[in-house]
Amino acid sequence: MAIGERRINGRLLARLIGAHMDERPYYLAIGRAISGLVLDGRIPTHTRLPAERDLASALKVSRNTVTAAYTWLRENGYLDSRQGAGSWTVLPDAGSGSTVLSMPNAEHIDLGVAAPPAIEGLQDAARLAVDQFAAHAGGLGYAPYGLPELRHAVARRYVERGLATDPEQIFVTNGAQHAIALLMDLLLDPGDSLLVESPTYHHALDSARRRGARIRTVGVAPDGWDMEYLVDAFRQTKPRASYLIPDFHNPTGALMDDDERAAVVAAARRAGTSLIVDESVAELAIDSGDQPAPVAAHDFDGRVFTVGSVAKLFWGGLRIGWIRTTPPMVSRLMAIRQRVDMSSPILDQLIATRLLSDIMRIRAERSRQLRRSRDTLTAALRERIPEWRFSTPGGGLVLWVGLPRPVATALSENAARHGVHPAPGPVFGAEGTLEHYLRLSYTRPPEVLADAVDRLADAYAETLIRPAPLRHDLYV
Ligand SMILES: Cc1ncc(COP(=O)(O)O)c(C=O)c1O
Repeated sequence: MAIGERRINGRLLARLIGAHMDERPYYLAIGRAISGLVLDGRIPTHTRLPAERDLASALKVSRNTVTAAYTWLRENGYLDSRQGAGSWTVLPDAGSGSTVLSMPNAEHIDLGVAAPPAIEGLQDAARLAVDQFAAHAGGLGYAPYGLPELRHAVARRYVERGLATDPEQIFVTNGAQHAIALLMDLLLDPGDSLLVESPTYHHALDSARRRGARIRTVGVAPDGWDMEYLVDAFRQTKPRASYLIPDFHNPTGALMDDDERAAVVAAARRAGTSLIVDESVAELAIDSGDQPAPVAAHDFDGRVFTVGSVAKLFWGGLRIGWIRTTPPMVSRLMAIRQRVDMSSPILDQLIATRLLSDIMRIRAERSRQLRRSRDTLTAALRERIPEWRFSTPGGGLVLWVGLPRPVATALSENAARHGVHPAPGPVFGAEGTLEHYLRLSYTRPPEVLADAVDRLADAYAETLIRPAPLRHDLYV
């Protein structure tokens, strides 16, 4: 996309700035708010800002104030301009945002990886699966689309969640990440554009980059998606595909409501975009309350590809996920998969099938466990580091924490020396932004989390005194 090709209008920008206008002088408040939106990935770089008079009228300030704000942004490296081409957002010193990894010490507390322990009942399910295994051992052992009983069980669960589904629509994979990588290969050619949320699940970004996609972003915050902005992003970028996480979004925890789901599918249809909807944590509601039906319930022309997994609900060591799509796409996925791998393990599929038949008990147990850990983490943070800000997510595995200063990378480096590993915000951005954020997973037991917060508090105090990041890569 050419410089400044994407635009934001005055009214929409004024709304995104809105809450930050309590500082004086106004021009500085506006400048800081816009640079904050760029740093947080909520306004992508190369977005053309509105004409000064349009923003002035939307903010109800004088044009001189907006001129001064744009000048401040230009002087501080957030805005570039060319005569006749307007002004567009840039980053003063863009980091890579990539995740090359050094593994944490096994004795450290790892709050970077969001993986809960195995659910109670896994061992019994495994024993029963071994008994059933004999019946399969006489066969070929390859189930290219997935074992029929597992495809049935997954389809039945969609029906229970309000989405009519036939087993022929289910393609079994080795986990959600495998499913995402296959869909990037199915839906994108190198150079095609992919619209993702900012922040987003970092390993999906890895898959998109490997495929050579041109990544476009649209901001999401813990209180959700600005729908006008999201719909506008589809209209302006007309992406070939879009990867979204509407259920307990990773990392913000946001949950998209039913009307918003309908609006996203309609916007994708108008733009000719295929939607990859990642529901990896959709079954991990913590608080009670109705959860909307899957996004695909609004789809009538096969543009929604839904990704699911048992990794977070049952256990990450069960490498079973799936894609829900149309039967012809299931066949195309199989052809793509066979370039690298033939079929998922029979034993894992049998275990997953068994556990799916007990899903309501398991959901309730997971929810109790996660509530305890989430509430311990949030209480400890409020007590020990009250200046950190967050919205408590209603489900999922992670807390997205806002820091008063842009020190996430330096803090993560310091925290490692205190034996704890948070995930710094920039990992989840496509552009090296998000230094004001940390992602903390609450999959460890409450007492471990309380200890982790003590260590984080010490590391944070140290970081404020000695903020310069020591450069080496972090594992999440
Ligand atoms: C949003 C999201 N998608 C996909 C995955 C990968 O899941 P799996 O272990 O099933 O490959 C994760 C794991 O953290 C995730 O959070």
